[in-house]
Amino acid sequence: MKYLKNSSIKNKTVLLRVDVNVPVENGKVMDAFRIEQIVPTVKCLLGNKNKVIICGHLGRPEGRREEKLSLKPVASLLADILKMKFVETEHRVPDYHVPHLIFYTGDIRQEKHERQIKNVPSKDLVFLENLRFYKGEDENDAYFAKQLSLLADVYVNDAFGVDHREAASLVGVNKYLNSYAGLLLESEIKNLDVLLKKPKKPFVIMMGGIKLVDKVATLMNIGEKADHLLLGGGIASLFFKAKGYETGLSKVEEAGVKIAWQLEKNFKNKILLPLDLVVANKDMDPSSIRCVAPYEVGKREVILDAGPKTILEWSKYIKLANTLVWNGPLGKFETKPFHHSTMALARLIGGRGKGKAFIVVGGGETVDAVRLAHQFSHIDHVSTGGGAMLEYLAGKKLPGIEALK
Ligand code: 3PG
Repeated sequence: MKYLKNSSIKNKTVLLRVDVNVPVENGKVMDAFRIEQIVPTVKCLLGNKNKVIICGHLGRPEGRREEKLSLKPVASLLADILKMKFVETEHRVPDYHVPHLIFYTGDIRQEKHERQIKNVPSKDLVFLENLRFYKGEDENDAYFAKQLSLLADVYVNDAFGVDHREAASLVGVNKYLNSYAGLLLESEIKNLDVLLKKPKKPFVIMMGGIKLVDKVATLMNIGEKADHLLLGGGIASLFFKAKGYETGLSKVEEAGVKIAWQLEKNFKNKILLPLDLVVANKDMDPSSIRCVAPYEVGKREVILDAGPKTILEWSKYIKLANTLVWNGPLGKFETKPFHHSTMALARLIGGRGKGKAFIVVGGGETVDAVRLAHQFSHIDHVSTGGGAMLEYLAGKKLPGIEALK
């Protein structure tokens, strides 16, 4: 695989695929993390006098143009970050005196638009509209990939978060252009490989969230290398259900319970579940909140957090860890007062990062929790990948990365 860092790409037109699939509400970006993370690659390419054409996706429009899934708010925020003027167009642009970020909305499959994009002055940055507005993107259509490739001389993939998808802009386009991994993709690979190859022991995995089905392959793969698996949140409820405990009104999928059984058998001595739980009625009335042992959950209660005994016990394992990976919150942390275990352990993990232990955090909600706990800058690697990180750590080959090889 060729890396942008070691390359000498200069005075070229570069097609840069990024993952800027971020939450957007009423035309406003709600979380800029993924956008900020592509800035070093954009600056590196611009600094070497390349003309850069950025492309990405937002949501799942499935080949149809949907106004609310326009990348305009993302492009506009990137222009602000880069201190460039923003302009939206599907027409020819003049040669402005100062560099502009041109948000180009024309149909890139048409020759007229291809020509217009090619005519954009090289000091300007081009940002294409959502690639998933074209059916060919998700279908990895060879013709669409070819059309994309016609826009540039070189291709850079900095889209780790979506590299588990077999799309035209991730896989197909590589056939036609000289391809490189961008700075963000390189950093994701390097940091996640530490967990896969040589995690310094003790190695602790902390996992929460709900969909165990999506996480089982990851747990199976890195669970072998780990010393302790701290399993909380909705995942823990599946284990409790498998043990025959009452889980009340909490969501527990049958398929997940079966997986929990299997994991319990495989990693019997490594798995740690919460020692106590915070529960409440379905309306979360303050007067209904109780802290109980895992086998004391009532039929009409919902499990909402792990309790203080769990925080204390898990702290011991976190403090001993030399390597730690965290994915998935341990409770309904976005709603006070069910944020305690997630916030307390996020702070503890932050205190260990960048020195005492090598810490990797990934997954949208987990990244939010780390930010809420003001620990972002203390984490060694915050991954931009949710599903992609899980698949990578499961030892799967990601199509977007494989295509670069
Ligand atoms: C993500 O947000 O996980 C990636 O951008 C992939 O999005 P997708 O699940 O819609 O393919």
